[in-house]
Amino acid sequence: MTKVIKGGTVVTADRQYKADVLIDGETILEIGENLKGDETIDASEAYVIPGGIDPHTHLEMPFMGTTAAETFESGTWAAAAGGTTMLIDFVLPGEDGSLVNAVNEWHRKSGKQICSDIGFHMAITGWSKQIWEEMAQVVDMGVNSFKHFMAYKGALMVEDDEMYASFQRCKELGALPMVHAENGDIVAELQKKYLAMGITGPEGHAYSRPPEVEGEAANRAIMIADAAGTPLYIVHVSCEQAHEAIRRARQKGMRVYGEPLIQFLTLDESEYFNKDWEHAARRVMSPPFRNKEHQASLWAGLAAGSLQVVATDHAAFTTAQKHMGDGDFTRIPNGTGGLEERLGVLWTEGVDTGRLTPEEFVAATSTNIAKILNIYPRKGALVPGADADIVVWDPSISKTIAASTQKSVLDYNVFEGRKVTAQPRYTLSRGEVIFAWGQNSQPQPGRGRFVPRPPFSSANRALSKWKELNSPRKVERDPMNIPSGV
Ligand code: URP
Ligand code: ZN
Ligand code: ZN
Ligand code: ZN
Repeated sequence: MTKVIKGGTVVTADRQYKADVLIDGETILEIGENLKGDETIDASEAYVIPGGIDPHTHLEMPFMGTTAAETFESGTWAAAAGGTTMLIDFVLPGEDGSLVNAVNEWHRKSGKQICSDIGFHMAITGWSKQIWEEMAQVVDMGVNSFKHFMAYKGALMVEDDEMYASFQRCKELGALPMVHAENGDIVAELQKKYLAMGITGPEGHAYSRPPEVEGEAANRAIMIADAAGTPLYIVHVSCEQAHEAIRRARQKGMRVYGEPLIQFLTLDESEYFNKDWEHAARRVMSPPFRNKEHQASLWAGLAAGSLQVVATDHAAFTTAQKHMGDGDFTRIPNGTGGLEERLGVLWTEGVDTGRLTPEEFVAATSTNIAKILNIYPRKGALVPGADADIVVWDPSISKTIAASTQKSVLDYNVFEGRKVTAQPRYTLSRGEVIFAWGQNSQPQPGRGRFVPRPPFSSANRALSKWKELNSPRKVERDPMNIPSGV
């Protein structure tokens, strides 16, 4: 059974051209002119782009005494409706501390629910011989990236020596270390300080996590990755200080990647000073939203290539859950949503304003992360042989974002009232239409698949070779020339 996506403009990370896309079953068979298939999907007046990949989600995540409300089913449905066909969710170890059990638990939770494909990252939240051993098993299970929290003191945070040990293990295994870059010790002190001053509302969240705290941690993580000889991926980059650290590292030839969020690019810190507690609390996440200068820096980074990926960090807590932080901002569950909105908002605020080209949009929403996570060109590419994860992206469909019409189970939307100027006409996952504009039929839960990601990406191998060639070596000296006693 073949399908042809007809009459559109194919946009990849490096060019745009008029072509039809022929799909055979789950994969792309051919791209060219005048192709025919058993079924035709109309792409006239539209772009044909690789399905979005959101590399940062927390569906049903147990966190801060509660569990994120977005399920794997509602999350993947929301993603499909917004043009995202794959997401990578963060696995957190449970009470027993076992990484392998945690990955199995994530499979158990997600398997029957997912409407589109997923992958996992693993969180390293402590350090032990068991963790060291299990990291290898986790890589064998198709998880090639490990996130380290430098914040959330007393909960998920790891110390520098633990991070260094884990990064070295990542290097041995060909895996990619990731960091949540915030100085957790200083955040904890600032939280105490502002609570003592009587600042108990969501504004205290922003005050206690200034950009310097993020920039310092980003610099520290970059230094530790360099010492361990491994690439580094910095998640949810929110500010110039962290971007500057990444930019500088990259200029020195270090393989450091930065991931701003769609929220950070378009929502600012004034949200936390809103008189309506619920409005502000719904936007509490770490790091927090920043001011317009920081936003400008992130946009410039995407255009310049110093930042590579736009994600959401979709960690969705209901208004009722946010109320756990009544009278104490440190107890407001941290997280916001964006899975359904990421592509539409990035197109509207990026491509429509001329800050990004359509090709840069594709690079930031799918291609770059597929390369970084070593699943390219199976994902993130429009080439024969790739999975037919494709979006017919229609720049004539506009809508106003509203919680009342979203697929997410949340009772609000942080982008409420924002107009977006393009939307998916069709979203295809491995050749199947899983969303069509104007229809509301949800794809079959459980049709999605887990996509294993192999270790030893090209960047990993290149850096290891470079480090090997430039590693410290003992200088062999003629014993006759060594003074006695030395
Ligand atoms: O506030 C956030 N970002 N919540 C999700 C957990 C994390 O730190 O990524
Ligand atoms: Zn984080
Ligand atoms: Zn996150
Ligand atoms: Zn309340």
